[in-house]
Parts: sequence; C-alpha cells; structure tokens
Amino acid sequence: MLLPPLTQIPPTIAAVSDYEPFARARMSEQAWAYIAGGAADELTLRDNIAAFQRLRLRSRVLADLSGGTTRLQLFGQTFEHPIVLAPVAYQKLAHADGELATVLAAAAVQAGMVVSTQASIELEAIAREAQSPLWFQLYIQHDRDFTRDLVRRAEAAGYQALVVTVDAPVNGVRNREQRAGFVLPAGVEAVNLRGMRPLPTGSAQPDGGLLLGGPLLAAAPTWQDLRWLRSLTRLPVLLKGVMTGEDARRALEEGVDGIIVSNHGGRTLDTQPATISVLAEVAAALEGRVPLLLDGGIRRGSDVFKALALGADAVLVGRPYMFGLAAAGAVGVAHVVQMLRAELEVAMALTGCPDLRAIGPGSISPAHG
Ligand SMILES: Cc1cc2nc3c(=O)[nH]c(=O)nc-3n(C[C@H](O)[C@H](O)[C@H](O)COP(=O)(O)O)c2cc1C
Repeated sequence: MLLPPLTQIPPTIAAVSDYEPFARARMSEQAWAYIAGGAADELTLRDNIAAFQRLRLRSRVLADLSGGTTRLQLFGQTFEHPIVLAPVAYQKLAHADGELATVLAAAAVQAGMVVSTQASIELEAIAREAQSPLWFQLYIQHDRDFTRDLVRRAEAAGYQALVVTVDAPVNGVRNREQRAGFVLPAGVEAVNLRGMRPLPTGSAQPDGGLLLGGPLLAAAPTWQDLRWLRSLTRLPVLLKGVMTGEDARRALEEGVDGIIVSNHGGRTLDTQPATISVLAEVAAALEGRVPLLLDGGIRRGSDVFKALALGADAVLVGRPYMFGLAAAGAVGVAHVVQMLRAELEVAMALTGCPDLRAIGPGSISPAHG
C-alpha cells in the first residue's frame, strides 16, 4: 500500500538523504527501481557519491565574509545559487503533479531547471509556470525533422538554453529495472514525443550484432548532427555527458557554449569513473573558455562546494529532488534545494569564501585529493 505524499515536512528530515525512505514508501517498487537505480552493478552510481565523500575541505578562519553571495551569471542569466535541477524523465512516476510540481519549487527557491525531452507534461505547460531560469534538455531523435520542431517549440515556449544529452544513444544495462519488471504505467508517457515517426525496425542484421549494425545506432547522433543543431538555433547549446578532455576539446571546436560533465547518474555505462574525478581533466581542456557544469552524486552542499573548487561553475542534482518530489511534491523539491544551498553557505563561511569565485583548488585538502 503506497502512502500519500506528505503535507508537512517531519522535523526528522534534516538532510537530503533523509528523504529516501519517505520517497520509497510512496513509490511502487518498479518506479523506485527506475529512479533510484543505475546501470548493471551500479558501481558508477555508488562511486559518484563515494568520490565526493573522500574529498576533504580546508577550513580558513577570520576571513571577512561581509557582502557575501551565492549569485552567479551563466549565459547572461542571473542564478541566485549554483544548484540546478537536472533533466529527469517521467516525473509523474514520483508524484501526480510531475514536472509542474518541480517548476513550482524551482520558482520558490530560485533554482534553474532543465526540462527533459522525456518529460511527462507538455513542455509549453511547464514553461508557463516558470519563474526562474529554464533550459530544455534535447535528445536528438532519429527523426531529425521532429527534432527540429522540438527545438522550435522550446524556443517559442521561452526556454533559454538547450542541453543536448549525448551519453545515452542506447539504454544502459538496467538490471535493477529488469529485476523489478519496470514498465511505464498507464498515464505516464513522453508526451512531447507524440506524433514522431517510429524508428524503422529493420530485420535482423546479417553482419551486425544485436545493436551494432542495426537501425538504432545507424540513426544515433554524431558530431555532424551537433553542428547541424548549432546552426539551427541561437540559444546557448550545452553538451551533457562529456567525461574526457578529448571530447571537451572537440565540443569547443564545434562551437558549444557550455559543457556538463555527467555520466547520467551512473545509469548508462557502468564502471565509468565518478564525475568529480574527471572534472579537473575536462576543466583543463576547456581553459575557462565556456561555462562548465557537473552532475552525479551530489548529496550535500559541501559536494556542491567541492565541485566548484575543482572547476565547475554550477552543478545539477537529479535523484535528490526526485526523492523530495515523491515524498512531498513541490514542497519536498524546494526543501531539498534549500538544504543544499544552506549547507553550501555553511561550507563557504567556514572556508572563508564570501562568494563563488573565492572557491578554488586551495579549498580542498591535498591530503585526501
Ligand atoms: C530517473 C532519472 C531519469 C533521468 N532522465 C534523464 C533525461 O531524460 N535526460 C537527461 O539528460 N538525463 C536524465 N537523467 C540524468 C540526470 O539528468 C542527471 O545526470 C543525474 O541524475 C545526476 O546524478 P544524481 O541523480 O546522482 O544527481 C535522469 C536521471 C534519473 C535518476
């Protein structure tokens, strides 16, 4: 029996991880497997979190913290703090209000929000409620005409940037979902992809494997498609899913406006390294030429701080706010962001950093680097 969402936040919820049991009790076993799980043995999923936990901070005393702020600018937009809600598909799985609850929370806590191509609510309806920076996450579809129309819809609805996710041309090996028998329940679908022409299935590939040589990978996006997309829109284009210096440099050559270091929260290729452990490599490749963001494993405000110290301008969080959403709807999402922000501010104060620019490699202890 699933419990209804909380109407009040219990005082025992003091940290982001405290939301997990409340979320789990309000989701089917299948939905829980989909949202909480990762690929294969979930080594990357766990390592994303563990790698943050291994880093240690260097406190500094007696610094002048007057006039401090967490504000930053990205692509000409003002963000009150560097915590952005990551694109997460099918949010109606967590709460009946789905993405509409999330966008309401984003407005309340002035968080940027990235809406997934696979949102369970029309992208226009979400945009109408937005009162904080709003970006659209694009999966380049096998139907490129449909993809172009999707970009046009996002532009017309007022989205201010495109986040092109490139690390998931195929689904990861999702054993936890398989074991739980996850399928989308009735009433939850990728409504923004309605009407797209289906992928030609094709018969068995004479020379190919199960995937290789097949229609799915034949239609998968390449750098050429990124160039096409770049020419299609005047919105800033961020590439999400970059994990190496080589790909970051190539992305720069192709004219992207920003990079998001991400391994999709450990949901695609298991045994990739933790995102925080490749951040320095990507930052070195970018040489500060475009904004750099990171997601994966952020569960504490001190994790936000660590990502900024190692080169990120801002971070995204996925599962933490989904747990807040499942437990308590918009209030839960807002509370999760608020806790992360409060913890970030404590870390800043105790490391002598009055603003985000002051956070740097010197804030991390080399003893545990
Ligand atoms: C349930 C779920 C669905 C997701 N759906 C998408 C998606 O539609 N598009 C996308 O770019 N990333 C998607 N992601 C990845 C997130 O944007 C983000 O990279 C990841 O959740 C960050 O890791 P974290 O959950 O540890 O914060 C999804 C993640 C989860 C947990």
